[in-house]
Amino acid sequence: IFTFVFAVTVTKTVCAEQCDGRCFGPYVSNCCHRECAGGCTGPKDTDCFVCQLFLGACVTQCPQPFVYNPTTFQLEHNPNAKYTYGAFCVKKCPHNFVVDHSSCVRACPSNKMEVEENHIKMCIPCTDICPKMCDGIGTGSLQTAQTVDSSNIEMFVNCTKINGNLIFLITDMYHGIGALDPERLNVFRNVREITGYLNIQSWPENMTDLGVFSNLVTIGGRTLYSGISLLILKQRWIFSLKFQSLREISAGNVYMTNNSQLCFYNTVNWTSLFRTSTQRALIKNNRDPRECSEMVCDPLCSVAGCWGPGPDQCLSCKYFSRGRTCVKACNLYDGDVREFANGSVCVECDSQCEKAEDKTLTCHGPGPDHCLKCLHLKDGPNCVEKCPDGLQGENSFIFKYAETNNECHPCHPNCTQGYVSACVFKHLLLLLMLKNLVLFNILP
Ligand SMILES: *[C@@H]1O[C@H](CO)[C@@H](O)[C@H](O)[C@H]1NC(C)=O
Ligand SMILES: *[C@@H]1O[C@H](CO)[C@@H](O)[C@H](O)[C@H]1NC(C)=O
Ligand SMILES: *[C@@H]1O[C@H](CO)[C@@H](O)[C@H](O)[C@H]1NC(C)=O
Ligand SMILES: *[C@@H]1O[C@H](CO)[C@@H](O)[C@H](O)[C@H]1NC(C)=O
Ligand SMILES: *[C@@H]1O[C@H](CO)[C@@H](O)[C@H](O)[C@H]1NC(C)=O
Ligand SMILES: *[C@@H]1O[C@H](CO)[C@@H](O)[C@H](O)[C@H]1NC(C)=O
Repeated sequence: IFTFVFAVTVTKTVCAEQCDGRCFGPYVSNCCHRECAGGCTGPKDTDCFVCQLFLGACVTQCPQPFVYNPTTFQLEHNPNAKYTYGAFCVKKCPHNFVVDHSSCVRACPSNKMEVEENHIKMCIPCTDICPKMCDGIGTGSLQTAQTVDSSNIEMFVNCTKINGNLIFLITDMYHGIGALDPERLNVFRNVREITGYLNIQSWPENMTDLGVFSNLVTIGGRTLYSGISLLILKQRWIFSLKFQSLREISAGNVYMTNNSQLCFYNTVNWTSLFRTSTQRALIKNNRDPRECSEMVCDPLCSVAGCWGPGPDQCLSCKYFSRGRTCVKACNLYDGDVREFANGSVCVECDSQCEKAEDKTLTCHGPGPDHCLKCLHLKDGPNCVEKCPDGLQGENSFIFKYAETNNECHPCHPNCTQGYVSACVFKHLLLLLMLKNLVLFNILP
């Protein structure tokens, strides 16, 4: 299972102490990049090498998780991938370790989350914020709590999913628990799902909307309060709900009563949010819709209604959408960031596409293979920032150079580096490496 990284022991004797046994020379400035499992030819992570001297070949790093397929011009999964584990290349990370890119680590870094793919536990980057499940009021660590208040609000930091309910009641001043600082309510901006119900019977003075729930997509209604999964009662300040992401109330009724300022509630097609035919919206004694006539949905919203003023509060768009905002048209032919339209959704062109002249399309689909023109270079169908420059292929490293038409072409097999005029001979590089090894007293 283990492929021993030869260079690590052999260079140890001449490395500066700070180098952790991996260096290309005797000084502190000669340490290998910390990603290098074995030795290296220079300080960068691309200068790492692993020498299997007995096979007569030097390779950089462990066999990478992706290899370049010269036929498809794509990086593809490498069935022979190995992961860096200390000074070793291993086929499988040890028990309790996860794969982060090409290394075995004990835990994913904070901007990544652990997933299991093909029986391999690995770290993948989170989109915006990593998922975090938290107890709701009355569940687990908040079993005895009655309401969100200043004593427990810190427990909701970074939560994306509330397992249970969120309840806001008038704070129990009698027990000396202070009122909620409105600023602290922003902790709920990360919440995407509440599995139980949302019950609002107290909300800070002068706070005119529920916009802190702007990312809330689903109210599950797995637990209900008198059959209700969304309750907003007797709030004097709330003028609009601003639930701009809410798409589903899976079970339970909606009860919204005696909120003297509340508008927009009457524009919302509640049925489109419900998942069962028995759910009802019980909405009465809020602000008279006739008094709300000034507060209309943005003209870019569809007839499905809106949660408040502005083109980002629509339940759905009349024309096109860009992110959460409704727009009249996508930036197909103008604008700083050019787009293509997937149905009624505007999607940015790949960053490798060159922005076209006005009145011309920049791309006709997603990814670097749908550009009309490349910003930098072109490798097969794909626009790329640079030509493959020592990318690991199935059996060898792939070097290409750019021709004058900015297309990448493979170097002659005798070359190892993609300079048009200065292809370096493979044997020369190998010689250089061997010379290094001799220098460090590796070879007799
Ligand atoms: C919340 O997330 C931020 C950014 O990822 C992180 O720095 C912070 O430590 C997290 N706080 C808690 C309590 O999880
Ligand atoms: C609410 O607004 C009013 C008028 O602007 C102000 O007098 C009052 O102090 C505010 N209340 C809070 C809790 O900020
Ligand atoms: C709502 O207000 C009406 C009239 O002001 C009142 O009769 C009713 O009891 C109130 N309902 C609740 C649940 O407070
Ligand atoms: C509300 O939404 C439901 C389900 O999506 C739909 O059948 C109904 O026609 C809509 N009602 C209105 C008034 O648009
Ligand atoms: C267009 O959107 C659909 C549905 O969101 C998605 O499945 C599809 O992959 C998208 N197509 C393109 C070309 O982005
Ligand atoms: C490539 O290398 C082989 C073997 O070393 C040699 O015979 C051949 O002439 C080289 N080709 C070029 C174009 O240098």
